[in-house]
Amino acid sequence: MPEWLKDTVFYEIYPQSFKDSNDDGTGDLNGIIEKLDYIKDLGANALWINPCFDSPFKDAGYDVRDYKKVAPRYGTNEDLVRLFETAHEKGIKVLLDLVPGHTSDTHEWFIESQKYEPNEYSGRYVWTTNAFEGIGGHPYISGMTERYGAYMLNFFASQPALNYGWLNRTEKWMSAVDSPEALATREALKDIMRFWLDQGCDGFRVDMADSLVKNDDDHKSATAAIWRDIRNMLDKDYPEAALVSEWSNPQQAINGGGFHMDFYLDHWHNGYNTLLRDYEANEEDNSFFRAKGKGDIMRFLDDYLPKYRATKDNGYISMFTCNHDTPRPARTLSERELKIAYAFLLTMPGVPFIYYGDEIGMRFLDVRTKEGGYHRTGSRTPMQWDETENAGFSKAPSDQLYLPVDQNEDAPCVSKQAADPDSLYNVTKQLVKLRHDNPDLQADSFFKPVYAVKEEMPFVYARGNLLCAVNPSMGGIKIRLKEMKGREPLYVIGRAVAENDALIIGPQSFAVFR
Ligand code: GLC
Repeated sequence: MPEWLKDTVFYEIYPQSFKDSNDDGTGDLNGIIEKLDYIKDLGANALWINPCFDSPFKDAGYDVRDYKKVAPRYGTNEDLVRLFETAHEKGIKVLLDLVPGHTSDTHEWFIESQKYEPNEYSGRYVWTTNAFEGIGGHPYISGMTERYGAYMLNFFASQPALNYGWLNRTEKWMSAVDSPEALATREALKDIMRFWLDQGCDGFRVDMADSLVKNDDDHKSATAAIWRDIRNMLDKDYPEAALVSEWSNPQQAINGGGFHMDFYLDHWHNGYNTLLRDYEANEEDNSFFRAKGKGDIMRFLDDYLPKYRATKDNGYISMFTCNHDTPRPARTLSERELKIAYAFLLTMPGVPFIYYGDEIGMRFLDVRTKEGGYHRTGSRTPMQWDETENAGFSKAPSDQLYLPVDQNEDAPCVSKQAADPDSLYNVTKQLVKLRHDNPDLQADSFFKPVYAVKEEMPFVYARGNLLCAVNPSMGGIKIRLKEMKGREPLYVIGRAVAENDALIIGPQSFAVFR
């Protein structure tokens, strides 16, 4: 386990939208390098950069055309290496985004694979034997290639599924997990990882990590076995490299696959969803952090605790403020609600991720789809740095920006918030610092609910020797709690005091007691 994960706060960067250094309207790697001091100042000490590789961008870069080449719009491979080096000088690690399940249909492997003549890449993707035979239960395309057969899709129509084999094989065209072609795909994946690790990258966020082996069992044991094999490679040759999975099943990803971290994704009605975004199908918003919601921390804990307990000795659950697929939390939460929510996220065990712009409460914008974003596009707009043209993101004419910046008069930006000690930005910064300053609040130290009652506030939890209390509701509360004896506040948002064996906590407040 890489030691550095114990005290890491990640910052996710969608490279299109972070900082445009050459004024062509799209963010780039040199723009990220320019802003490393900003990231360091915020207190984040690791980055996850969404795919920055050569791509036709039908899915924002999750359709990779060449894994070993930086997309020209972002810069060159040399720029990426310079980003690693400059980040490292500042104590910042860099994870790239690895897309193992599929490529773009313009990837050279696929161009070869679809040829009539059998070749080295014929088995690199999942193909049936004839064009009239589909793949039951899975999306596929046929009739577009000179090769006889239908090919399986892993996501959008432009993303054919790479072939890692099938666990339960019912057709003769289904490769075994240990067939030469499935093993060749796996080796090609390892080769890509080595390519970037050798140049200084610190690991990968792994896209759709659970999607490798088809017809896998309920535990995804065959897919997990592939990741175990890859973890063994890391342990042996790159022990400091870290992997975080987009899986959202830590028992499978961490205990099974050997991932160091697994994302707790925003899935309808899972524990994470009940915290910030419990509004989609409902008319009412019952998110725990909505002051007027029917807050119920048990809906979170019932889902989270078994996952946490089952995996805490092997790896970390990663919670995030948001990501590039998820509505910005500011879509529904007020600035005060965001402060309380971030205070919780940044004092939980595991390894937290801040999505660029959430530190200033960037809004979910009503914008037209871009590069296969659809409803996700509103969370992918340019970072708002200051009050100059295009919010300081780019000097390109506004109509040439990757996506429009927030045009509202009160649009949040870094420069305004940096000057206001009480801003969301400054509170986020304080919270990150609080975490770095207190090992009890970091990844490993134990988590235990101390006061958690169905449909009641507040929620009190222990982190090591510290006690955290959170009350997102509109009402002040006093509860008897023997654990409060002798405690004093270390950090408070709003109002909170320990009075003998009672906790008094104001409306929309958060506190850490020592
Ligand atoms: C993951 C990514 C998402 C992408 C999809 C296909 O869910 O986060 O953005 O569209 O995989 O690669």
